[in-house]
Amino acid sequence: MSDELGFPCNFVIFGATGNLATKKLIPALYRLETAKRLPESMNFIALGRRDWDNLAWSNHVRALLKEKLQDKCDESICEKFVARFSYIRGELHDVEAYHRLKEELGKPRMGVCSNVVFYLAVKPTDFTGVIKNLDRSGLSKPRGLHRVVVEKPFGEDIESAQALNKLLHQHFDEEQIFRIDHYLGKDTVQNLLVFRFANTLIEPLWNRNFIDHVQITVAETMGIENRADYYDKAGAMRDMLQNHLMQLLTVVAMEPPPVLEADALRDEKVKVLRSIRPISKRSVHAHAFRAQYAQGTIGGEVVQGYQSEPGVEANSLTETFIAAKFYVDNWRWRGVPFYLRTGKRMAEAKSMVAIRFRHPPQQLFRTTPLEVISPNWIVLSIQPEESMHMEVHVKQPGLDMDTRVVSLDAGYRQEGEAQLDAYETLLLDVIGGDRTLFIRFDEVEWAWRVVDPILKSWAQERDFIHTYPAGIWGPLEANRLFDSEDQEWRNYL
Ligand code: BG6
Repeated sequence: MSDELGFPCNFVIFGATGNLATKKLIPALYRLETAKRLPESMNFIALGRRDWDNLAWSNHVRALLKEKLQDKCDESICEKFVARFSYIRGELHDVEAYHRLKEELGKPRMGVCSNVVFYLAVKPTDFTGVIKNLDRSGLSKPRGLHRVVVEKPFGEDIESAQALNKLLHQHFDEEQIFRIDHYLGKDTVQNLLVFRFANTLIEPLWNRNFIDHVQITVAETMGIENRADYYDKAGAMRDMLQNHLMQLLTVVAMEPPPVLEADALRDEKVKVLRSIRPISKRSVHAHAFRAQYAQGTIGGEVVQGYQSEPGVEANSLTETFIAAKFYVDNWRWRGVPFYLRTGKRMAEAKSMVAIRFRHPPQQLFRTTPLEVISPNWIVLSIQPEESMHMEVHVKQPGLDMDTRVVSLDAGYRQEGEAQLDAYETLLLDVIGGDRTLFIRFDEVEWAWRVVDPILKSWAQERDFIHTYPAGIWGPLEANRLFDSEDQEWRNYL
């Protein structure tokens, strides 16, 4: 195994003891180690606030891998992985910590790598401070060499996103910047592109002539865990809708790019975002609905309401559920509503794209027991199931003209095919310098332009938020977004 497999580099994780590093990054890096995809010479430096030394950090990594991966954690691979790390204690705002980091990077054990990945697994409010300190300590130099990975949300509105981008560009070239939206690393999301553009069968139907509406749902059963510090300021709009759900929308709605290249794909995605009808102040309520979970029951267990979560401000109005409606005003989609919905503490953990087709133009079966035929659906499940199916009507065998709906299933993963976590794919791309699955700034900017009017209007409504008991599919009031009476949320595959 040699460094030819990837671009050799050392890898610094800011926020190494935080939620993202613990839940996603470290397990994903370990899986890459298991798959022998990490360059031999690569070292990791974990930077965190806890008063730990290398030994305490190593024990932390061992314990978290054991807990996460259980019997899939191989002891010798784990030891090899742990040996790649060193730990630096430091506050993000303290430039001294960056000097210590620089010193560590200069040590012989860091090997021959001259370039470094700086992964900002920190709260958005800390991005600016980290970038400034990278500069002050000389770690961003020489220009053009290192890579910086910035997690979403990129900014908290359009102005702050622009300011953050400007700051990044003062110290890094665009080729060095990796704006992450891990939904793009999901196999099932990439499969959406294949489903659309590799199947002649689908493409002619994929437009306003045949499609009645599109639903994009990302439902979670978990609450905010211990992330109140971040989440209470972000809410579901900044945490999920502005980025993950908007990216899903663009992949569903975009035109085929002329070539399968990063910028060609991004150009098409930006065109979709630019075509979304702006939401005026007066129409915010017709387009967006927010709510917050209250105490309820999930999987037979009583869970507390959002306001009782540790660290949440008293009387917080932060939304944990959003439903929104957008129109993409172009030739393909004009008049087709895109309903987006996401929430914490919902009935099930399920992410899917459901496309409902129009009713047949002629009610041929009006005089039979069937009367009205229900419309067809195509449902693409992103997680936890990975499936695609198309619902069609068939006649039930027998004397009467009865039908039933059968599902044409396109199984996705075959037996023995491994399931990759999005972060494995994306981390490998960062190491290899491939930016195809990362976000260009104009995508971020246009996505903010779409949601900013909603956020601004909510920011002024400071006295009330709807609630829903944990464990349901969201409040009924969210149904007010539907354009017609025969539209309803689809909660099943
Ligand atoms: C993250 C959000 O970006 O995505 C979390 O910050 C959310 O709040 C998570 O839980 C969902 O990701 P996934 O891959 O589990 O759907």
